[in-house]
Amino acid sequence: MRRLLIAGNWKMNKTVPEALSLVRELKKLVSDVNDRDILVCPPFTALYPVGKELKGSNILLGAQNMFYEEKGAFTGEISPIMLKDVGASYVILGHSERRHIFGETDDLINKKVISAAKHGLTPILCVGELLEERERGETEVVVERQVREGLKGLSRESEFVIAYEPVWAIGTGKTATPEQAQEVHKFIRGLLSEIFDSEKAKRVRILYGGSVKPENAKSLLEMSDIDGALVGGASLKAESFSKIVKFDR
Ligand code: G3H
Repeated sequence: MRRLLIAGNWKMNKTVPEALSLVRELKKLVSDVNDRDILVCPPFTALYPVGKELKGSNILLGAQNMFYEEKGAFTGEISPIMLKDVGASYVILGHSERRHIFGETDDLINKKVISAAKHGLTPILCVGELLEERERGETEVVVERQVREGLKGLSRESEFVIAYEPVWAIGTGKTATPEQAQEVHKFIRGLLSEIFDSEKAKRVRILYGGSVKPENAKSLLEMSDIDGALVGGASLKAESFSKIVKFDR
């Protein structure tokens, strides 16, 4: 009942010419895919040209962050209206790099989630524990706080996606085992049931992120509560990203 979503988070990579060449190649490689959603999230500077290039294709456009206000004196920030204007339909919020390098709090992330939904952008709320937190047995406490605080005040009707990304697995080559990931995904779905209800919880897509590669995509995506992937490094090359997109179900 949940359609797979394979999302590429390019992070701070790709100039405009590089971004265009990547999506041109990707479009060709995935043009025959119609049973799952494909999303690319380029840096802000490449959103507009990439969006133009993707018009009429089966690849969706998303941003990696945004501020919650619509406009005004917020130097260096980008608003939901600006993202809609360039054709984005998704926005990644609360990525661990935003939380840990830029000090984003649950409260700030929640304001962004509410604003994105209000403006018709689907937020991808990222959650995940640090290695120390996992080792202290605090994975569920941390993830529960991030999910509850991140979704506070969001209406049941709003569409949103959760991405579970254990911080120790991001960019490290260390992937959570499919069983470790499934356990947390199931826990998150249980939380969504408590926050909303079981019908809503069944419909929300929960993505896994953290060193997803063509070699491990299938075993992760086969788990019953893993509804897609948020791919960093392996989304920077059309060949590897398309292989993840096209993994054999
Ligand atoms: O948003 C993507 C994640 O941070 C995963 O990055 O695939 O390079 O580990 P990675």
